Amino acid sequence: MAPVTRLLAPAITLLYDSPTMATPHTTAITLHVNGSEQTVSIEHHWSLLNVLRDSLHLTGAKRGCDRGECGSCTVLLDGAPVNACQVLAIRASGRNVLTVEGLAPAGQLSELQQAFLDEDGGQCGFCTPGFVMSARALLDANPDPSEAEIREALSGNLCRCNAYGRILASVRAAARRLV
Ligand code: FES
Ligand code: FES
Repeated sequence: MAPVTRLLAPAITLLYDSPTMATPHTTAITLHVNGSEQTVSIEHHWSLLNVLRDSLHLTGAKRGCDRGECGSCTVLLDGAPVNACQVLAIRASGRNVLTVEGLAPAGQLSELQQAFLDEDGGQCGFCTPGFVMSARALLDANPDPSEAEIREALSGNLCRCNAYGRILASVRAAARRLV
């Protein structure tokens, strides 16, 4: 079950319910990404993940399933974890987006990232940015989470190589460092 804080996917079909949006249309939007204002030209059907990866070249958020199932694309939108592949970019206009790149703006790993490194929380690493961002949202809201709370917060993220034990240990280690 996905975390309750995770925004449910806005239905792409809604876009096409509007006759005025029946054909691709370009709009400029401004996002606040990792503390910087970014204005990009988008087509209305583009996802936030499209914009982050393809327009802004922030490739930390990964395109795994592109259908809201794996969590590899997790970023924080106004502090809440979302699947960026399922958020229309236009709905992120004017909002704050935090990606994994924003956790180490000067190249210095955050405590959370260092904990993943120390505890071997990533194997192939493809899912790791998503886990890190879900963990970041959890620890921002609850610096001393229980085991059940950690598992619930990460329940929307899948690791295909089954490194869950190391991932949970990484989040526990980060929590110990932060309290
Ligand atoms: S790529 Fe977004 S949930 Fe899988
Ligand atoms: S480390 Fe997560 S899929 Fe491999």
